[in-house]
Amino acid sequence: MNNLRSSLIKARIGNRSLAANSSIVGVTSRVGGVRLSIMQNRAYTSDRPRKGGAGGLKLLTLLGLGGAAGYYYNSTQSFKTKTAPVTETETKSKTAPAAKTEKKNIDYQKVYNDIAEMLDEDPEYDDGSYGPVLFRLAWHCSGTYDKETQTGGSNGATMRFKPEATHSANNGLAIARDLLEKIHQKYPEISYGDLWTLAGVCAVQELGGPTIPWRAGRQDALEASQCTPDGRLPDATKKEDHARDVFHRMGINDREIVALMGGHTLGRCHLDRSGFDGPWQEAPTFFSNEYYKALANRTWIKKNLESGQWQWVDKDNTVVMMLPIELSMYNDKGFKKYYDLYAKDQDVFFKDFAAAFKKLIELGVPFTGDEKVYEFKRTTE
Ligand code: HEM
Repeated sequence: MNNLRSSLIKARIGNRSLAANSSIVGVTSRVGGVRLSIMQNRAYTSDRPRKGGAGGLKLLTLLGLGGAAGYYYNSTQSFKTKTAPVTETETKSKTAPAAKTEKKNIDYQKVYNDIAEMLDEDPEYDDGSYGPVLFRLAWHCSGTYDKETQTGGSNGATMRFKPEATHSANNGLAIARDLLEKIHQKYPEISYGDLWTLAGVCAVQELGGPTIPWRAGRQDALEASQCTPDGRLPDATKKEDHARDVFHRMGINDREIVALMGGHTLGRCHLDRSGFDGPWQEAPTFFSNEYYKALANRTWIKKNLESGQWQWVDKDNTVVMMLPIELSMYNDKGFKKYYDLYAKDQDVFFKDFAAAFKKLIELGVPFTGDEKVYEFKRTTE
């Protein structure tokens, strides 16, 4: 994003804030080369500033941004797509798969840059960034992998087809798929699996996370029959043994599970998508170890939701939440040591997360072994 566009967006955000007089505001800016927006509940932050980490008040103070730029916090905001869904209502893809031996001449860094440019194009979407929903698409297209049958995973990008697109775990991900369709139109040679995983890497890096090495090689499935059955992704209402079953099925071990759960430092739950509501901490567009700190340092109380579900909320800032399964996982002896490690040491978390996420998005991909490994340059570098 160039400076002109950036300042235009800020000005617009500022105007909305003045007109809105909202009690919960966010700011979007670039800090130290990171695209950042911070959700801040004023009532909460003035009551009890967070200790350490990337908490909203501390960051706001550090950045000297004050409340000058703000926007509504609206958890049920809906997204209207401008592009038609790709093939999800169909059972066959119009796009031909790449032949395995085909040499593609794609400038993946350019693809990365175009996705990065798109991340904060709509300051009114959620917390001001499409990063979290793109990141979630990368995880959900990969997390269906089953090491026994060697089915699922990011190879195939089968979420383009109706059965998988309509699995309830994937609610809301049409937003991400539609956004990336615009990129695919510009680079029609890229496979959807490569595009979706590259977008996940881009979101993490641009929102302040670690560099994640990435390589191309996923081939698009042609038929809905290659979709995985519903139920392969984790269910938030269950307990730690379910998390183990799901991730061990992919070949992901306990330490990697906990590292990947740190992905919840980004984004939020949406009542109309999952029946849960709210972000996991106050800076949901800033990748950090704040998720682990929140689990370790806050007091969690149960809250019943209008969806009929319940979730944990921070006693001192009830817009911040944890899913039922997350406290069960945190309280598991085998997992806890890693949660505590990552809460204490962000560098170790970043290193472990990068390795585990690379592994996740490569599960089941038929690499030949001679693929180039990309380490994408951040657009802010
Ligand atoms: C036990 C494992 C997990 C469960 C039960 C779970 C469940 C959920 C649920 C219920 C939501 C809310 C969806 C919505 O309402 O929009 C969500 C959002 C999200 N999840 Fe997970 N998740 C798990 C693991 C992961 C992992 C491993 C990652 C990444 C590596 C991840 C990344 C995300 C992101 C970024 C969002 C926010 C999306 C947005 O803001 O639109 N999750 N997850």
